[in-house]
Amino acid sequence: MPIYAKSVGPNKKKVDGHPFDFHPTPENWSRVIFRHETFKGNILEPCNGNGAMSRVIAVNCPDNPLVCSDIEPYRMLPGAPPSMIRDAFEWGREDGIENIITNPPYGILNMLLVHFMNITQRKLVLLLKTVSLEGVGRGEFYKLYPPTKVIVISNRMRGSQFGHSFIIWDTTKRRHPGRTELVWDTAK
Ligand SMILES: C[S@@+](CC[C@H](N)C(=O)[O-])C[C@H]1O[C@@H](n2cnc3c(N)ncnc32)[C@H](O)[C@@H]1O
Repeated sequence: MPIYAKSVGPNKKKVDGHPFDFHPTPENWSRVIFRHETFKGNILEPCNGNGAMSRVIAVNCPDNPLVCSDIEPYRMLPGAPPSMIRDAFEWGREDGIENIITNPPYGILNMLLVHFMNITQRKLVLLLKTVSLEGVGRGEFYKLYPPTKVIVISNRMRGSQFGHSFIIWDTTKRRHPGRTELVWDTAK
């Protein structure tokens, strides 16, 4: 059984009515990250959906080898890079993943955070609800692994009840000694 289903219970595969928490990221939201960050080495999009975000990664990082996977097969958007079917928890350190960029399924965020921190060798970038910075348990995680940067996206995705931020960790340093940089941008 896929770990996603396990983590939320056998009959609760749907989050907000979407199987596997499938919410493709609008292009202008994905583009924000590339105005602030550059990437060295390979990139994994491990929760790729229909390629909405990986399409933007491919355009902005043409020289970085890009691998995409998702636990479910989806009909890919035109121009999306090829994607394989794989549970994100099956990726390991032995796969030599340098960077991860994704908008993950929020229903299993805590488990994914720990896993991605363990397997990413350079930079971990997640598009999350801004309120995901809250929470007692997650607070302990953030204290242990402070992000290097948080990019607050000031406008709301259409139909969304909450705002989003890109959260970035430099995983070469694990516990980076400096303070978290907080910046604002607008998806456009
Ligand atoms: C919020 S959607 C985002 C899709 C894509 N990253 C984007 O930004 O357009 C989350 C995706 O995570 C996938 N997913 C859920 N559980 C997963 C797991 N255990 N391993 C890999 N992908 C998973 C879902 O199928 C869905 O496509």
